[in-house]
Amino acid sequence: MSDTLQLILEKLDAIEKRQEAIQLEQKVLYRQIEALFSLYQKFEFEAPLLNMRSWVASPDLLAVLSGLIQEYEPLTIFEAGGGVSTIISAYSLKSLGSGHVYAVEHQEEFAKNIQHQLRLHDLAAYATVIHAPLVPVEIGGKTWQWYDMSKLADVDDIDLMLVDGPPQYDNPSDMARYPAMPLMEKKLNPKALIVADDADRDEDKKMCLRWEEEFPLKLLRYYEKSWADIEKGARLYRYEPK
Ligand SMILES: C[S@@+](CC[C@H](N)C(=O)[O-])C[C@H]1O[C@@H](n2cnc3c(N)ncnc32)[C@H](O)[C@@H]1O
Repeated sequence: MSDTLQLILEKLDAIEKRQEAIQLEQKVLYRQIEALFSLYQKFEFEAPLLNMRSWVASPDLLAVLSGLIQEYEPLTIFEAGGGVSTIISAYSLKSLGSGHVYAVEHQEEFAKNIQHQLRLHDLAAYATVIHAPLVPVEIGGKTWQWYDMSKLADVDDIDLMLVDGPPQYDNPSDMARYPAMPLMEKKLNPKALIVADDADRDEDKKMCLRWEEEFPLKLLRYYEKSWADIEKGARLYRYEPK
């Protein structure tokens, strides 16, 4: 094969791959629109929702979260990393008429903003934001950064845990969210649901596999980006201690 032909074939291959990636992006974006419509159909929001791009939980995750809350009726929800997810969890609990979401947030400004949002949405009775700075903690001979556990003393009997923080960005530990299981396990009720967001990222994939080896977790579902399920990927587990 001539060099020119080889070059053309390589270019064609690259174009095909790019086209597949664009098609997936379109599906993923369309999924966000569907998910947003489903949220707006389900709830009568008292104020505009926060933006749902970039760092923030995506509409697809939020639609799954609200579906899980309506199906399983958890009384206590814990969120590692608060935000618009806290608002949606609180609306879901309000529609059930019971339950409470505790969202821990390490950035004070973010914590204040979520509290403000909860007031705007008239959801203060269903949600508490806990500002807890990240502090070093030793697990298995390694140091991690995790929310100051002394601020979480009142959080117990968790029926649903959303692990969406702390951010990996700027975090000295790989698998930044790994401590959620070793540190929060004692606060989980048997059969608690655990949602790990961002599960398609390399760090989080590694973390999920390590959790699956070390803790009694049954994988109920893997929402994959490649299926346009959840754009950042998410794994849903049930905690099943012996
Ligand atoms: C994945 S986000 C949390 C998502 C949260 N569950 C929600 O629904 O938005 C994880 C953390 O990133 C941080 N964060 C969110 N937006 C940010 C931004 N624009 N810049 C820097 N940090 C941000 C917050 O501290 C948050 O707890």
